[in-house]
Formats: sequence, C-alpha cells, structure tokens
Amino acid sequence: MDEASNSGPLYLQIAERLARAIRAGTLKRGERLPSVRELASQQSVSASTAVQALRWLEDARLIEARPRSGYFVAARPALLPEPQSSRPGARSRVVQLDELGQEVLRQSVEPGLISFGAACPEPDLFDQDRVRRALTRVVQRHRDLLCTYPLGPGREELRRAVARYALGLGCELQPDDVLITSSCMEAITLCLKAVTKPGDVVALESPTYFGFLEILQSLHLRALEIPTHPRHGMSLDALQLALETQPVKAVLVVPTLSNPMGSCMAVAERKRLAQMVLRHDVALIEDVIYNDLAEQEDKRRAVRSFDSSGHVMICGSFSKTMAPGLRLGWVDGGRWAQALHKIQSVQSGAQTAVVELALADLLNQAGAAAALRQLRATLARRVDEARSLIADSFPKGTRVSDPGGGFILWVELPGGLDAVALYEACLAENICVAPGSMFSASPRFRHCIRLGVGGRWGPEHPQALRRIGALAAQLLDAALIKRAA
Ligand SMILES: Cc1ncc(COP(=O)(O)O)c(C=O)c1O
Repeated sequence: MDEASNSGPLYLQIAERLARAIRAGTLKRGERLPSVRELASQQSVSASTAVQALRWLEDARLIEARPRSGYFVAARPALLPEPQSSRPGARSRVVQLDELGQEVLRQSVEPGLISFGAACPEPDLFDQDRVRRALTRVVQRHRDLLCTYPLGPGREELRRAVARYALGLGCELQPDDVLITSSCMEAITLCLKAVTKPGDVVALESPTYFGFLEILQSLHLRALEIPTHPRHGMSLDALQLALETQPVKAVLVVPTLSNPMGSCMAVAERKRLAQMVLRHDVALIEDVIYNDLAEQEDKRRAVRSFDSSGHVMICGSFSKTMAPGLRLGWVDGGRWAQALHKIQSVQSGAQTAVVELALADLLNQAGAAAALRQLRATLARRVDEARSLIADSFPKGTRVSDPGGGFILWVELPGGLDAVALYEACLAENICVAPGSMFSASPRFRHCIRLGVGGRWGPEHPQALRRIGALAAQLLDAALIKRAA
C-alpha cells in the first residue's frame, strides 16, 4: 500500500486502491466487484463506507452498477473526463435561432463533405432489403391503396403494431389512442400545440435537441433550460424548483440518450418525474426515439410506463432505428389524445397508407430485435473508436461524453475555445461538425461541438476526427497568443 492510500477518508483510501487495480488491469473490464457486504468485510469497514467507495468509483466512471447484479468494472475506459453538468440561467428565454443550425443541416447531407453534423445512422447500418421487401409486398397486396385517399388517425395495423412495440418500453397503450404522424417532430409539435399557447414556458434539457428549439420558436414558446447531467439527464431537483416557481406549461424531455449529451435517466428518476408532473398537473412530452439504442435494457423503459393519470404524452419514430426513409412517427397523447387527433386532422391529415402498412409489417417481424442488437453493437464500436481518437488528438482539457448507446458525442473544448470558429475552420477543409450554440436558446455552449458518428464511416472519418483535434489545438494556441499580446 502506498502513501496516498494511507491518507484521507477511509472510503477514499479504499476507492483509490481499487481505482489503481482497475487502471493497472488487475481488475479487468466487465469483471464483477465485491458486493457492498463483501467489500465491507474484506476492508473491515462499515457498509456505508463501502457504499461511499463504490459510489466514488462509479462517479469516476471506473465501475458501473447493474440492476440486481452488483458492481462491475466499466466496459469502456474513462479516456477523458465527461462534460460538466450544465447550469443554465433560471429564467425562461424567447427562442431566436440564427441561420447556423439550418446551414449545418444542409451541409451534413452534402456529398463531398466528411460529415459529423447529422444525427442519423447511415443507410448501410439498416437491413435495406428487408425494408424494400416490406414495401413491395404492401404495394402488391393492396393494389388500390396508392390511389385511395387516406383519412383518419393511421392504419389500425400500424397503431396495433406501435401499441405492441410500446410494451417493450413498459407501456400499455390502446391502439385507438395512438396517432400516426409524419415524424417524431410532428408528434412533438402536436403535443405542444395541444397544451400551450404563444408565450407559454416549456422546460427542457440543457443542452437540448436543436429541432426542439426550432419548434418552440415557430410556436412562439419560451424555453426554460433545466440543468442537465451528461450521464443522468435532467436534474429533477432543478425541475421541481422550476415547477414551483415558474409558470411551466409543459416539460419536453428525452429520458433515454438525450440529444446532444447522450444522458439516460435512472429508472427511479423516471418514476419520480411521472409523479412530479402529476403533482404539478403539467404535461410531460416524452421523446422515446432513442430508447431502442440504449445499451442497458432498464434504460429503455419509458417514463410513460409510470404514468397512471395521462399526464405523459409519449412520442417516437423509427427513423433512427429501423428505416429512416419511412420517416413515420407516432404519439399517444394520454389525456390529450383526442385533442391531438383533432389538431392533426385539421393541420395535415393522414399519412401515406402503404408506408404505414410496410412499417407495421417491419415492426411485427421476428428479426427486428436481432437487427437492433447488431445496430447497437456497430454503433458502440464507432463511439469507442471516436472517443479514443478524440482522447489522442484533441487539445488537453477536452471533455467528451460517454453515452450509454447511440451515436452522438458531446465535446467540451478547453480554454473557452470558440466552436463556431472551429466549425468554420473544419468547413474550409470539407469537414462538418455541429457547433454547440445550436443546442441552446442561450450562447452558453459556444465552447462545445456535437459529433454524430453514425453516418457514413470510411477511412477518411478517423483521419478527419484527428484533423478536427489539430484544428482545435491551432485555434487554442492562436487565442492564447492573442491574449498574451
Ligand atoms: C431527440 C430527437 N427527437 C426527434 C428527432 C427527429 O425525429 P424524426 O426524424 O422522426 O422527426 C431527432 C433527430 O435527430 C432527435 O434527436
């Protein structure tokens, strides 16, 4: 035992000893750690000291807790520290986005650009033949459908398939309450229209998905950004305070793999959130678009599964997990379900029926679960590779998220580096990244970038990631020289 482990509180001495064993490889990735009771008895300490030591290791990302199984050495090494919890201001803001977001979206699909700007897996990661066959089958079987005007809330086959799918998220939905939409974004827009009017306040994660801010802006809603932890998601203590002190009309949240931080709320927090919105009689709009990509099964459970009062409106689509080109979304608006049906029928009406039937067919196929497992594994390898490239080539002091699934990385750059300047420098070399300022109604994330690593991935992509790191280092040096002058 060295000197360091003989000083400081007892729990820290134990934690540091275990940390050294993990870093040296004595305790290997995935290996089970002693239980609280075993650790307490081995070290002759109380159970609460053992718990403190394990918590410290968990916070240091060296170990992870698995429900009902105990603690294990983390699967992924903590190469860089994770971004800090966000601390947005306590006031709601009018959303006034500049052109940057739309520009990045346009560029992210431009041929010739090496893109980390988009948040969608590339076509090759899906079973394209399966999707094509499903669509062809429908067109052949229902010969009059392409020339029949669609009406109503969506084909019953698909509403049933969605209700069956939602059982996997822990939710019992009635097919009659499910509404098929053109996309997840339409589903969220409908929910907001049902429960807010211009000038109302909507609470959301900070940073949040750029598309949500665009919807808020178009509906003239105010954004109240809530402090968010990069791994555990929206702070419910902060949300609670906001609900008690501000006129929040709706909460919009992505509890699993939020975009861009990649955070996942703990199951107990999901339950607490459902109870909180009931107590405050506020609508919760839950976006479950990434739930199927969560590595840990318990993180796929929706907040809606804890809702017995209809306060949680659940929205999703399969554009990240099954067939981006089919694009359809769905929503069950809980106590507002009928209102959503009405708004949609006035606003846009029904979707293309052949696409609905093809999606129902795909959802009901036995191979869907295996395809998802494969997608998750491929994305996890990408994320690992990208994180270690960032650790190798980005300037010292960089922080990067360690999402429990998906394909989005949130990078905090050191020294107050201006991410818009980095975005421009990258673009000059045909590389596209998304500057952090897109993901907030405030200029708070100007030193961050979002990297989507689910898109096309050739040999030029790792090289481009290294180049982004080099450009960041150059900009940082230039800023230091300027400051010193
Ligand atoms: C959290 C979140 N919700 C919704 C969407 C958009 O989904 P859709 O394509 O179904 O509208 C995205 C796309 O990036 C997203 O990140």
